Amino acid sequence: MRVLLHMGKGGVGKTSLAVATALGAAQHGHRVFLVSTDSAHSLGDALGREVGPIPVEVADGVVAQEVSALIELDRSWSEIQEWLHELLRDDTDELVAEELLVFPGLEELIALRKLSEIEAMGEFDVCVVDCAPTGSTLRLLRFPDVLRLFMENFFDFKRRAARAIRPLANRVGAGRLVAPDSVFEAFERLYRDVEGIRQVLLDGDRTSARLVVNPARVIVAETRRSYSYLNLYGIVTDAVLVNRVWPPAATRGYFAPWAERQKRELEEIERSFPVPRFYAPLYPSEPIGVEALCELSKQVYGERDPAQHFTRSRPIRLTRRDGQTQLEIDLPNVAKDEIDVTVHGDQLLVRVRDAQRQIALPASVVGCAVAGARLEAGVLEVVFES
Ligand SMILES: Nc1ncnc2c1ncn2[C@@H]1O[C@H](COP(=O)(O)OP(=O)(O)OP(=O)(O)O)[C@@H](O)[C@H]1O
Ligand SMILES: [Mg+2]
Repeated sequence: MRVLLHMGKGGVGKTSLAVATALGAAQHGHRVFLVSTDSAHSLGDALGREVGPIPVEVADGVVAQEVSALIELDRSWSEIQEWLHELLRDDTDELVAEELLVFPGLEELIALRKLSEIEAMGEFDVCVVDCAPTGSTLRLLRFPDVLRLFMENFFDFKRRAARAIRPLANRVGAGRLVAPDSVFEAFERLYRDVEGIRQVLLDGDRTSARLVVNPARVIVAETRRSYSYLNLYGIVTDAVLVNRVWPPAATRGYFAPWAERQKRELEEIERSFPVPRFYAPLYPSEPIGVEALCELSKQVYGERDPAQHFTRSRPIRLTRRDGQTQLEIDLPNVAKDEIDVTVHGDQLLVRVRDAQRQIALPASVVGCAVAGARLEAGVLEVVFES
């Protein structure tokens, strides 16, 4: 099943374009599931009809659902949460717990669990996802790493009998650390779910991010950062959807200054996102309802099938050059001093600004020293000694 994630800053048109993409894909004969993981659901607003937690057919070939994370948040998570709160109640360094307890990323993650359910139904070829604004979606991408760190450091997976964890045990009473069986099992379930979702997100054969942007300075700047993070996390962005482009007729009189500003930003968009870009004009009124959003889909994709892969290029690649193995990560909008690369055992740790990703090294380079790392034309190259 193809998965298309619509991401972008608040208000840029993610929901409108997600619905447009879904309608366009259905017109190309796909059976489409349209799902929103943003807790501030608005599929219904865009479609001009009710859409709720029960899947409903909204157009020929399109079934839509607004996943309620609250309904999905099963007992297992609340158990974990209560236990963590208890555990860290009077601990000053709550960094890990904070990450785990912050809800925006988790809510989306829980909602994304739907992906595997939808796939299991076997009735859909395409799942179009309307994501929450980028901040929380990026947190969602980090969540699996944080959870894994937590699990690996604090639980002994192999010997379940020894569940107490040493680093924390020094700080809080060891007795409180021993999670009841139910909590431990809930953690394992959550971990499995998160891994499952992560596999789907990272599978470039199935999943692509569609970044929605407007030709406005602040929005372009934030989207550039999001694009780097998506690359760092290994998620393929196969298209950038440039929404709300002022048509020439609209930039007269009072709005004339927009023409020049927009031209600059459109150029900046071309420089910043080396992937296919599609454009939609600013309409004189909100595109609401199936007809208006089909029209938006036509504007954006023309005769193309919105479900196709617009690029096959992967943001993280392993290559061999001159007898040396090289790991490449596309980081086009990042400066050299914003990147930090270190190897820890069989993991490569790459930090870009405030985001950090652990990349499991392929067996062929585990144990090999890093011969060098350089940023070359927007690509981070980490070369391993053979
Ligand atoms: N090309 C366009 N021309 C005119 N209005 C548009 C266009 N695209 C979107 N809109 C309108 O802009 C508003 C915001 O769009 P939308 O809800 O799709 O954005 P969003 O990115 O999903 O927002 P949020 O971050 O709040 O979820 C809506 O009223 C929508 O109808
Ligand atoms: Mg929205």
